[in-house]
Amino acid sequence: MKKYDIAAIGELNVDIILNGIESEPEIGKEKFCRDMTVTLGSSTAIFAANAAALGSKVCFVGMVGRDSFGDLVNASLQAKGVDTGYLIHGNTPTGATICMNYGEDRANLTYQGAMDVMGFDDITPEVFRETRHIHLSSLFMQSGLLRDIHKILDAAAENGVTVSLDTQWDPMETWKLDYKSVLPKITVFMPNEKELQALTGTTDLESAISAVLPCLGNAMVVKCGSKGSLLVRKDGTMKLLPAFLNKDVVDAIGAGDSFNSGFISAFVKGLFLEDCQKTGNLTGAVNTTAAGGTGAFTSLDAVRSICKERFGQEFAW
Ligand SMILES: Nc1ncnc2c1ncn2[C@@H]1O[C@H](COP(=O)(O)OP(=O)(O)O)[C@@H](O)[C@H]1O
Ligand SMILES: [Mg+2]
Repeated sequence: MKKYDIAAIGELNVDIILNGIESEPEIGKEKFCRDMTVTLGSSTAIFAANAAALGSKVCFVGMVGRDSFGDLVNASLQAKGVDTGYLIHGNTPTGATICMNYGEDRANLTYQGAMDVMGFDDITPEVFRETRHIHLSSLFMQSGLLRDIHKILDAAAENGVTVSLDTQWDPMETWKLDYKSVLPKITVFMPNEKELQALTGTTDLESAISAVLPCLGNAMVVKCGSKGSLLVRKDGTMKLLPAFLNKDVVDAIGAGDSFNSGFISAFVKGLFLEDCQKTGNLTGAVNTTAAGGTGAFTSLDAVRSICKERFGQEFAW
């Protein structure tokens, strides 16, 4: 018996969210905003927290600094039921994103800090022995992980660990990931529609799927926002599952991470891929019923109730 169902390997940072900003920042001037929240950021953290809320045993592998932001990240993950024993405390400060909200629009400024430094050698080999599954996320925000991706995937394979990958968007838009050598080692590849096209240098979904199909290790699920998701198997069979549409969206922050948390929690329970996809569509929809990425995932019972009351669906467990 392994200690963890899922090890989430990814970025960690705090979000400094500024609201009620009087006008745009200008060099050489000082301005005020009315409201500030400092909170755990990072899309991999949303994934880990929500998978834990769904009952998976989750540990986090990520790097923070020896600073108060690192303490905040550690305490926030623990409060969400995520094991932080494998967090790495390095000499680079914890990453931070300053989110300046202007109504519907926002300007973000990120200092990557520790997240950019973590590489394969920082990860204790015990992780690969103690988990059944690894979820890798946000590769383009972590140059150390991107550089060492094959070492991580090979260590996973040697230990019989299945792997899911959500690269997320590349802020530099260079898409320097050799997907032809990486995807064969991935059990479930989880991009969204836009990311898949950018990664493959295509302009429509069909061409993007044709490009990756020969490289798939096992399966891919493409997230298509309010259209739902598309499951693609290595043998070329596909299944489009429309979203459990929420017409009253609070916000869609973290919908993709919540989708991943449901899909992978179902996968580690041994459910069929179609049932994992349905669970992912449901947890993606649940995400949109409350503010932020984790607001709706207060407990498994709460998620079950939202599925029943808002979407007329039984949750899978
Ligand atoms: N308005 C919505 N109503 C119901 N489900 C949604 C809605 N928007 C997104 N989802 C669900 O969440 C999943 C992930 O959202 P998406 O925006 O595609 O991911 P990402 O955040 O990675 O871009 C979708 O595949 C869908 O199942
Ligand atoms: Mg995403």
